[in-house]
Amino acid sequence: MSEFHPNIIVLENKSLLNLFTRVRDQTTPPAAFEFYAKRLMTILAEETIADLPLATSKTTVFTPCAEFKGEEVDVDKICAVSIVRAGDSLLGCVRALLPGVSVGKILIQRDETVPEKPAKLFYCKLPKGIEDKQVILCDPMLATGGSAAKAIESLIAVGVPVSSIIFSNVVCCPEGLKYLGGLYPEVKIVTASIDEGLNEEKYIVPGLGDYGDRFFNTV
Ligand code: URA
Repeated sequence: MSEFHPNIIVLENKSLLNLFTRVRDQTTPPAAFEFYAKRLMTILAEETIADLPLATSKTTVFTPCAEFKGEEVDVDKICAVSIVRAGDSLLGCVRALLPGVSVGKILIQRDETVPEKPAKLFYCKLPKGIEDKQVILCDPMLATGGSAAKAIESLIAVGVPVSSIIFSNVVCCPEGLKYLGGLYPEVKIVTASIDEGLNEEKYIVPGLGDYGDRFFNTV
């Protein structure tokens, strides 16, 4: 829980500190960044999947020794949607954990030379039946919340209930959380870190720089 958002899960996992130290370090080379970021996002993806009540059902299995009351996740009840391009990195980790999961893509871009200009929707391809699934919205960085809000708008427009959307990100900040929490308090956020805030260029501080550029080695 957080003072900045009514519906948030912040991961507490001992292994995150080492991984965050590697990906935040600006001297980490691209191959190492990808390696550590994938490890970090895999933990995030597992925790996000574990928080999809509508896609999870109770079940009893039998070990070689006894009965075990457990839970299982139904991949057919989930859709993973990435906000292109950085979101594709997290989407890859979700797909590795849920082979065959249905996928949607949304491209929203902001004019990087004018940070205060609102982000614009360029492309939206969502699978049929998405309105009956739980949607994992993937974007590793929640900064102003402008792109995420636009993506959520596109999901609602095709009939996805807000309560079925779970937004998964690696790093977020109070500004983005307050913005999204004000607009869509029912959209649950699963994050690995709440950082201090935004700088003048709308980058997260301390953050890790441009996630897409670093993950895809676009320099
Ligand atoms: N997107 C990024 O990749 N990094 C930030 O700090 C903010 C938005």
